[in-house]
Amino acid sequence: MRKKIVAGNWKMNKTFEEAKALLSEVVNMISDEVTGDVEVVLCPPALYLAASRQYITSGGKVSLGAQNCHEKASGAYTGEISAPMLQSIGVDYVILGHSERRQYFGETNALLAEKVNIVLENGLTPIFCCGESRDLRENGDYIGFVKDQVTESLFHLSAESFAKIVIAYEPIWAIGTGLTASSAQAQDMHFELRQHIASQYGDAIAQDITILYGGSANEKNAAELFAQPDVDGGLIGGASLKSREFLTVVKARQ
Ligand code: G3H
Repeated sequence: MRKKIVAGNWKMNKTFEEAKALLSEVVNMISDEVTGDVEVVLCPPALYLAASRQYITSGGKVSLGAQNCHEKASGAYTGEISAPMLQSIGVDYVILGHSERRQYFGETNALLAEKVNIVLENGLTPIFCCGESRDLRENGDYIGFVKDQVTESLFHLSAESFAKIVIAYEPIWAIGTGLTASSAQAQDMHFELRQHIASQYGDAIAQDITILYGGSANEKNAAELFAQPDVDGGLIGGASLKSREFLTVVKARQ
């Protein structure tokens, strides 16, 4: 049985007071109104992670995620945050390879392979992001490109380690643009990714891997996206910043 997950990536938004208010609203709403077996992963800015832990009771439906971490365990890397640090404050998930990190911070597939390793070594779950640009979608082998991202950052893992990964397919042209992939486009890519995983790790692991969709998913389109057989949930940006809208997305997956 694949895990159903809806993750909220707050990106670089919210002051501390605003973040605490949103956390408390979302956690309360989920505990009052969500009855299904969806897991909700809240990914506030790193600065707020330790304080955020207090809002999230262990054993509940809500987990805590970081938006990034460094590829080394410790050392002279001013300004950076390591996987052991995240583990030590009770973080559960780490988003890796978001297209914004690839674009603005030069993250490559090889670097992300190192980040995946350190995250797994510290008992955290990577949410590994992949996805193509608009230019590739219109003019190139976009399926091959996304498969290569997965191959180059994840296929060095043992089957046991790979089985712990969550993948998020996020077409770059859909992120923050209001241009959601159609449910058919999302399903096609998720299906291709599952086939690709099966070719390396076999069908059982491919069928068990959770693959999320991200890119302008919101309260209006979530139900249709999540109804696709290979779409197991969402990585939600803008719509995770408003408690009621985010709750509607979560309920569409429960
Ligand atoms: O991590 C989240 C994705 O980048 C999606 O962002 O929902 O604002 O398009 P968005």
